[in-house]
Amino acid sequence: MVAESHQTTLTAIMPSVGRIFVSRDLPFPALDRLKAEHEVDVWESTTPPLPEDLLEHAQQADALLTTITEKIDGAFLDSAPSVKAIANLAVGTDNIDLDAAKERGIPVSNTPDVLTDATADIAFALLLAVARRIPEGERQVRAGEWPAWYPGHMLGGDLADTTLGIIGWGRIGQAMARRGEGFGMHVVHHSRSSGIPLEELLEQADHVSLHTPLTADTRHLMGAEQFKRMKHTAYFVNTSRGGTVDQQALTQALHDNEIAGAGLDVTDPEPLPKDDPLLQAPNLVVVPHVGSATVRTRSRMADMAVDNLLAALNGDEMPHRAA
Ligand code: DGY
Repeated sequence: MVAESHQTTLTAIMPSVGRIFVSRDLPFPALDRLKAEHEVDVWESTTPPLPEDLLEHAQQADALLTTITEKIDGAFLDSAPSVKAIANLAVGTDNIDLDAAKERGIPVSNTPDVLTDATADIAFALLLAVARRIPEGERQVRAGEWPAWYPGHMLGGDLADTTLGIIGWGRIGQAMARRGEGFGMHVVHHSRSSGIPLEELLEQADHVSLHTPLTADTRHLMGAEQFKRMKHTAYFVNTSRGGTVDQQALTQALHDNEIAGAGLDVTDPEPLPKDDPLLQAPNLVVVPHVGSATVRTRSRMADMAVDNLLAALNGDEMPHRAA
C-alpha cells in the first residue's frame, strides 16, 4: 500500500537524533552538518560494503545515504525495517527499487541538476577523444612510436558541420546539445515525448550520444540492430548507465566496423574486469564512471543528499525527492 502522506508519517516516526548509515566516506563539509545533528555511521572504505555489510548497518539505521553501488530492493527494505528515508548520492536511481520504497512509504531522493554540466563535459570530452584519437595518440608518443609528420597520420572524424543525435532529452542530453552546437554541430534528438523516432536518429546522425536513465524500457536500448542502423563513420558515446547498451553487440559493432568508435563512461558491469572482451574492441575510449567527478559537483551532490536527509529526519518533505 502506498503511504498517503510521508510528511505526516515521518514526523511521527523519526527520532530527534537519527541514526544514519552513509555507505561511503564523503570528503566534503556536508557530512559535518549531518554529524552535528545526528549519529552518523560512515563506511570508510572506498570499496562498497558487501550486501551483507550494507544490510547489517542498515538494520541499525533510521536513514541511509547511499551511492550507485548499493542495490536496494523490497526484500532488503523488509529486512531493514528501521530505515525510513534514503538519500541517493546520484541523479540516477536505478540501484534502488523505487516502487518497492514507495509501497513501504520510504521516500527516496536524488541529486539532480548539479551534475548536468560535469556529465555533459565528460560526454563531449569522450566524443572528442574518440573522434580525434587522443588516447591513442598519447599512447603512441609515450611508447616512443611518434612517426615523423605525414599526411595520413592518425586521421579522425570531424565534428563541425555534422549532425549530433542525442537519445534522451533530459537536462544532461540538452547540455550535451549545447556543447554540440558550440562546436558547430546540428543537433537532433529522440526521447519518449519529443524529437524524431530513434531509427531515424540513428540513420541521420553522424555521432550519437546516449543520455537516458536506465529503466526496464531502456535496458539494451542500443543493441545489434541499432548499431547496424548507425553510419559506419559515426562515433557513439554513453554516459548514462552501462545497462542501456547491449555490450556484446557494441563490441561486435566495433570489431565489424559497423561504427567508427565509441566513448564510454559507463559499462556493464562496473568496474569492468580487465579481461572483458569489450576492452579488445578497436576504437574504444573508456573511463571509469567519472561523469560527475569534479570537486565542485561532488561537493554539491553531497550537500543535496545531506539536505534531503536533514529534511526527512526533521519530518519534512525531502527537497529533491525521486520517489
Ligand atoms: C549519477 O549521478 O547518476 C552518476 O552516474 C553518478 O554521479
